[in-house]
Amino acid sequence: MIKPIEWRDNQVLMLDQRKLPWRETWLTCRTYKDVAQCIRVMVIRGAPAIGVAAAMGYALGARAIRTAGKYRFYEALGLIKAHLASQRPTAVNLFWALDRMERTAQALADLSVSEIKAGLVAEALAIHEEDIAINRAMGRHGAERVPDGATILTHCNAGALATGGYGTALGVVRAAVEAGKKVQVLADETRPFLQGARLTAWELHKDGIPVTIITDNMAGHFLKEGRIQLVVVGADRVAANGDAANKIGTYSVAVLARENQVPFYVAAPMSTVDPHTPTGAAIPIEVRPDREITHIRDRQITPDGVPVLHPAFDVTPNRYITGIVTEKGVAEAPYIQSLAKMMD
Ligand code: MRU
Repeated sequence: MIKPIEWRDNQVLMLDQRKLPWRETWLTCRTYKDVAQCIRVMVIRGAPAIGVAAAMGYALGARAIRTAGKYRFYEALGLIKAHLASQRPTAVNLFWALDRMERTAQALADLSVSEIKAGLVAEALAIHEEDIAINRAMGRHGAERVPDGATILTHCNAGALATGGYGTALGVVRAAVEAGKKVQVLADETRPFLQGARLTAWELHKDGIPVTIITDNMAGHFLKEGRIQLVVVGADRVAANGDAANKIGTYSVAVLARENQVPFYVAAPMSTVDPHTPTGAAIPIEVRPDREITHIRDRQITPDGVPVLHPAFDVTPNRYITGIVTEKGVAEAPYIQSLAKMMD
């Protein structure tokens, strides 16, 4: 199974997703600041994978703290957490994972500093392993909604690369294939970072799952032509009422799916559901550097001096969402109730 991140010999290895599909290069993070930088520049990306990386970064940072004194140790942990948390604002898994690591550190407070450090490494590895198991459970629930023979549209990359492994939206696809269904995927290319064209296409093709790339502006056409039976995407944050933030362009796909009576599913672990964010309006939307739009790799494609806008995510209102596939089952409207019930 493709895994985008690994803890090895007390270092964190990451498959550099900026270089795919051209090169499979692994970067080594030796410090928590290396991990933070990799999150910011998108060596690793996708909400659950960012959470796993942050947890490993926290453990890496904890291991490097040079003090046996508890007060100074916890003070340093606070700074590490704040630094990792400041890298990307939208995916709630980043904050979820860091809060969980902090709670673990607090729960181990009676142990020695070296025992706390070991406990934090174990917790980061547990977050990684649990994420894979959660994706498999989510996949099984979602696969029940996939008709045999379906063409499935997806936007961005919510696959093995975006998680600990297996994927959320692509986990649903993988589970449908494992259940013996014949499916194929249409992957939106997902301007500007090209997660669809580069990453979704790469990992599905590697697994022998039929995938065809379309440009983002073709989705409406294929939905109208009846060539798509189901849409499934991931999410960076699901508000308590079911509004879902995902890669910019997702909202347009959801509206077009509704217009053409095609079911639109969001697949996300419960760690992506944020009970503290009441509606999508409160989800912070990351604005990424202009250069990701004005340039393709090193080549400028826009005229000098013309401004660009670059929100990295949009919010799909809950009314366009047929169901939210989680590890606990498929939540349906009214989400404020169905998600709250799953939280218990
Ligand atoms: O900017 P990215 O590549 O981190 O955005 C990723 C997405 O929008 C994914 O769809 C989302 O994180 C879900 S990943 C399982």
